[in-house]
Amino acid sequence: MVNNFEQLKKRILELKREKNAVILAHYYTTPDVQAVADFLGDSLALSIKAQSVEADTLLFAGVHFMAETAKVLCPRKHVLIPCLEAGCSLADSCKAADLAALKKQYPDHLVVSYVNTTVEVKALTDICCTSSNALKVIESIPKEQPVIFAPDRNLGGYIKRLTGRDNMILWDGACHVHEDFSLDKLRAMKAKHPDAKVVAHPECKRELVEEADYVGATSGILKFCGTDPCKEFLVVTESGIISEMTRLYPDKRFIPALPHNSNCCCNECNYMKMITLENICACLEKGEPEVEIDEDIRHKAERSILNMIAIK
Ligand code: 13P
Ligand code: SF4
Repeated sequence: MVNNFEQLKKRILELKREKNAVILAHYYTTPDVQAVADFLGDSLALSIKAQSVEADTLLFAGVHFMAETAKVLCPRKHVLIPCLEAGCSLADSCKAADLAALKKQYPDHLVVSYVNTTVEVKALTDICCTSSNALKVIESIPKEQPVIFAPDRNLGGYIKRLTGRDNMILWDGACHVHEDFSLDKLRAMKAKHPDAKVVAHPECKRELVEEADYVGATSGILKFCGTDPCKEFLVVTESGIISEMTRLYPDKRFIPALPHNSNCCCNECNYMKMITLENICACLEKGEPEVEIDEDIRHKAERSILNMIAIK
């Protein structure tokens, strides 16, 4: 049983070669996990990358809906997820049966769903989106076409404000991590760091987003922090992204924004942190858990994801 970081890392590298496997990781995973990844990205970049990976096995170091998306796009590959419990509160907030009922109520509406959804929800969706392309996806739809936007009410509300569209029905879902940032604490941090710029993910509540100098997906936030001359940033998204920020821009300072709970020094996604070097190693050794999807559902979900990728 290998148990320290260097040994685990070495074993994972051997297993990747042995099994012809590639590891895709999201920015919200721990720095240790990010260190063994072949590709690191946000949810859009990872979906696109999954399509072009040549390896037989794809291990997804991220949450379940991300691995499912990769399986939808690469049905012939073995798509592994090291921990089946690594879910997502946002995906949980939208059940396929409830979305089907809403669609029945509004049959003339087009359904746009965030990728943070189950494959069954994607199968009921016309076009998927991620936080990095949601605006483009909505702008690609004629203004007079009504839309159901699921499941994130904060991202949906943000896009609604940007586009001025009032024919968008917003699903009442949210991410427990992004909803929990404290406005009072952010304001106090701004007072303490008057030269810092605020960067925020659009899954945050409106009042937090309105404090931000830049609002965008994780990849957009990373890019902004690199191109903006400012040296200090208050980061209003999951704190896992800070390791990549520090790696890319070592001369800049990144301060995580705080959740309401006063005991925490940052805001972490408990699901993303379920992915560890130990379970990655075990998953590669055993070749399981593997993501399996019913072919009919996969086929329907693929259409909505490909519609998204075509828009980018
Ligand atoms: P990104 O689309 O920015 O990768 O976000 C994914 C996510 O889970 C946000 O909470
Ligand atoms: Fe889901 Fe929120 Fe975690 Fe992202 S941060 S995976 S939206 S629970």
